[in-house]
Amino acid sequence: MINTLNILIYSLFIISISRLSSARTAYKGNLLAITGMTIAVIMGLLCLNSPNQLYAIITLCIGGLIGIIGSKKTSMPQLPQMVALLNGFGGMSSGLIGLSETFNIPHPNLWQIFIIFAGCITFSGSVAGFLKLAGLVKIRETETLHSVSLILFILTLIGGIYAYNGETEYIIGFAILTSLLGFCFILPIGGADMPIIISSLNGLSGWCTTLVGLSIQNSLLIIVGTLIGAGGSILTYIMTKAMNRHLLKVIFTPITPNKETITAHSEQDIHKGTPQDAAFLMENAHKVIIVPGFGMAAAGAQYELGNLAKILIQKYHVDVKFGIHPVAGRMPGHMNVLLAEADISSDLIFGIDEINQEFKTADVVYVIGANDTTNPLAKTKKDSTIYQMPILEVEEAKRILFVKRSLAPGYAGEDNPLFYNEKTLMLLGDAKEITKEIITNLESTNS
Ligand code: TAP
Repeated sequence: MINTLNILIYSLFIISISRLSSARTAYKGNLLAITGMTIAVIMGLLCLNSPNQLYAIITLCIGGLIGIIGSKKTSMPQLPQMVALLNGFGGMSSGLIGLSETFNIPHPNLWQIFIIFAGCITFSGSVAGFLKLAGLVKIRETETLHSVSLILFILTLIGGIYAYNGETEYIIGFAILTSLLGFCFILPIGGADMPIIISSLNGLSGWCTTLVGLSIQNSLLIIVGTLIGAGGSILTYIMTKAMNRHLLKVIFTPITPNKETITAHSEQDIHKGTPQDAAFLMENAHKVIIVPGFGMAAAGAQYELGNLAKILIQKYHVDVKFGIHPVAGRMPGHMNVLLAEADISSDLIFGIDEINQEFKTADVVYVIGANDTTNPLAKTKKDSTIYQMPILEVEEAKRILFVKRSLAPGYAGEDNPLFYNEKTLMLLGDAKEITKEIITNLESTNS
């Protein structure tokens, strides 16, 4: 019976992953995964003896309640930091299981020490990732943190040797040191490199689960952990390719941006435009490319973008395309999810390689809340954290409409020369409000 149920659960998880590959089937994919997880939890509960069953149910209720409240309170733009935190919980669970396993035996084995190490690093690294994504910490003194990490690394190694001898206090001390190490290690990593870190922590949380599964001989944990671990590792590879960075370089030689080279500009240096100007340019264009970024997500402007595309296509017969950079936004696939939510056809959406061929022939490019992913400094500025990251070549278009609220830099902290480009009209304001006004203008004009 248990084996049959296990096979059912594995199948549900595997089918759910295949469904998640397309926006159209993703909802059903999630339902299948939830069903699989519910059966797994019930099975787990039934395997416990009665006092433990009661504790497990109480813990499940508390965790479930926190999860429901957290998901209700989390808005779409806050989803990336929520995902980082959930990765951390995965790591924490593995670390805690590793710890509890050592309490039952006189001497922990190397395997258990490694589970504690990997689990604690994943947990505290994800907490650091969460704080960075939520904008709650901004690190300036990266050098100091690198030195602290090095000291913590040596202390953790020594702690590991002591923990291996089996004293409970040493094992707990080792877990604390490892957690501090993970936190200090991830904190100074450059903003633009965060996609790589987030996806590798996601993979690590899966591999930790696999390790725990191997340790307690639970095939469900082994399979689920491997699915998450492999998914996270593939994503890390995609992200390193998208940013043209090597994982080891991101971790061991992070770029420290030279802030002194950032020139302060004022609004006098730019050409300011209005939604009326934007509507005029768009309705007279043959081809318009829309480039969304984090600011579009923050403003929740996806529905307005959908309307804008519809009106341009249907009323003005404009060729409209969307160009998505793989690291646009704050989590992998961020823009695709939002555009799918607004029912924008996937036929209109193109990845970086395809859309970069199209900018030369575009009359207008509408950059809405995107910044780093379009920044030409990525090609030239060697001390920039986005150096060598492939960008969306929006400067090739005839006119650039740039929507953002100010001249502030993007996530990587770099000024963007496109703001001062002769071809650019800056539309300063909230992405949703500006797009709404453009739509009003387009609607009121006779085609
Ligand atoms: P960013 O470079 O982050 O720029 C977003 C821009 O949106 C900002 O310059 C901001 O300027 C503007 N903005 C914010 N709220 C707005 C609003 N309500 N209305 C209008 N504009 C608004 O965006 P990007 O081009 O998408 O690049 C993503 C960056 O995040 C990359 O550096 C990437 O490495 C990093 N990152 C990505 C991920 C993943 S996995 N995708 C994870 C972590 C970090 P104002 O403040 O002036 O409005």
